[in-house]
Amino acid sequence: MGSVAGMRNLIKVMSFSLLTIAAFAGYSNFGIPVIKPALPPVEEQLDLESMTMDQFIALGERVFNGKGTCTLCHSAVGGRAPLLDTIATTAKERLADERYQGEADTAEAYLFESMVKPSAYVVSGFGKAGTNDTESPMPDVAGGGIGMSDAETKAVIAYLQNLAGEEVTVEIPIDGGDMASSAESESETVADSDAKPVILEDPEAIIVKHACGACHKVADQVGALGPDLTQIGANRDEAYLRRAILDPNADIPEGFQPNIMPNTYGEQLYAKELEVLVTYLAGLK
Ligand code: HEC
Ligand code: HEC
Repeated sequence: MGSVAGMRNLIKVMSFSLLTIAAFAGYSNFGIPVIKPALPPVEEQLDLESMTMDQFIALGERVFNGKGTCTLCHSAVGGRAPLLDTIATTAKERLADERYQGEADTAEAYLFESMVKPSAYVVSGFGKAGTNDTESPMPDVAGGGIGMSDAETKAVIAYLQNLAGEEVTVEIPIDGGDMASSAESESETVADSDAKPVILEDPEAIIVKHACGACHKVADQVGALGPDLTQIGANRDEAYLRRAILDPNADIPEGFQPNIMPNTYGEQLYAKELEVLVTYLAGLK
């Protein structure tokens, strides 16, 4: 690399990927992405008062796979976070562990605490780099980036308890019926192929939509699994940034692991959105 021929080749490859993305853009958002980042939440009246426990568990599952962005990290691919299939059972062992720093006294309380204060217990080997497993890279799910309501958090606990075959101990909160959830609207967006695609032009909205802030410090979000992007433009140019988003394993910055950042953004971002994002990141100095 560095030679003129090398540069030409790189440019060819880059413009080819842009064309491919442009060609895909018309279809991509109607496909089923492997990892579904949160869509912007749509206000929805959830009638918790007339919900059965089965419906509440199903709500938890939708939040887990959608708005909560849990599967971005807790999935079989990449191994960026522990799997949660049996966590409702394992929770009791966590409470008895001498490394446990929190205040929970039941499995249910442990699950709640894990979501809003992840550093109360850090699963060994999964801590933030350089902290010797004392700090968790998981974001507070009630915080700005994800913004789960109390009712949504409880629904996820019900889902996890049911998934592990444990008794569901959470109660459906009947005073929190007014909450935002993207769960219903999300399935509509995917199914309704007549819907006009919404192409975002605000870089921060694109970052929220694709949950970049779950892993990166960027646009007022404080993710810690990937590099801090708040000054990324100081030493990375647009070509590098574009490649970093489309093909995350192409360059691995020192101190970080491959296979953690999803490699599906090429299918999920519209060409226009990708360019807005690249220009924005290149300008952060
Ligand atoms: C940006 C990546 C990321 C996202 C998003 C994320 N987590 Fe985590 N989570 C982790 C990591 C890494 C750990 C292990 C470190 C620790 O114990 O905090 C973890 C730990 C946990 C634990 C404790 C596991 C144990 O074995 O004790 C629970 C429970 C949990 N997450 C639930 C969730 C739920 C529910 C969501 C979605 C609402 C979620 N997480 C979203 C990265 C993430
Ligand atoms: C599940 C966690 C995760 C998510 C979500 C994520 N990233 Fe990353 N990102 C990483 C990790 C880890 C690295 C470092 C390793 C690598 O390059 O693959 C990285 C690297 C990068 C880099 C290169 C930084 C450098 O200095 O080389 C850029 C740029 C970037 N991400 C942008 C984004 C954008 C934009 C989004 C949202 C569209 C996003 N990331 C979503 C984890 C994530």
